Amino acid sequence: MDLYDVIHRRRDVRAEFTGEPVPDDVLDRILTAAHAAPSVGNSQPWDFVLVRDPQTRRRFYAHVQVERDTFAATLEGAAAERFARIKIDGVLESTLSVVVTYDPQRGGPAVLGRHAIADAGLYSVCLAIQNLWLAATAEGLGVGWVSFYREPFLADLLGIPPGIRPVAWLCVGPVSHLQTVPDLVRHGWRTPRPLAAAVHADRWRAGENHPMG
Ligand SMILES: Cc1cc2nc3c(=O)[nH]c(=O)nc-3n(C[C@H](O)[C@H](O)[C@H](O)COP(=O)(O)O)c2cc1C
Repeated sequence: MDLYDVIHRRRDVRAEFTGEPVPDDVLDRILTAAHAAPSVGNSQPWDFVLVRDPQTRRRFYAHVQVERDTFAATLEGAAAERFARIKIDGVLESTLSVVVTYDPQRGGPAVLGRHAIADAGLYSVCLAIQNLWLAATAEGLGVGWVSFYREPFLADLLGIPPGIRPVAWLCVGPVSHLQTVPDLVRHGWRTPRPLAAAVHADRWRAGENHPMG
């Protein structure tokens, strides 16, 4: 697949997991792609916890439902009705989850390029996640990012040491198909913003559309 094709085919997956396993060689390739991401000071501050244990996934799923309810309680009217129809995870449907963590101590204390922007370490982890997501898409797999959790709960569930932050719970697995339109768009939760509205010429200008070029 062409890179642009993969970028545009990539979806956040929840309902389309088939429950089949991820072959070891494919998993190795997508983790290798994640591990090839750029990182501030070449610190590679990520780790990948491969969660297959059904009991651990069930415990996480139960926690996600509590957080789903917490968010739902902040909504009213049409938004509440819309959210009620949206599936927010495929934790039980996919047989593998990859939890990606961030270690701010990795490569320290003098991480080249991070002295002024502490978040640069976190940005690096997100790039590894995006590499994983695109590689999985190229392999015909689906990925679903679940962020309905509290970090201390997940750290405790997986025995993640103090100081290391869980950044993402990613459900990974074979899918029946990938949606062509993102779920949140299909459910009328949020309309995509045109690229031209996100591009600013020379200086930030609020509330204007800036044609490119
Ligand atoms: C940081 C991050 C956290 C997300 N958390 C969730 C989540 O908890 N549940 C969910 O259903 N989707 C989650 N998503 C997926 C987004 O809803 C999705 O990327 C967006 O709606 C665009 O759809 P697409 O990824 O299919 O293009 C998350 C995405 C990101 C980047």
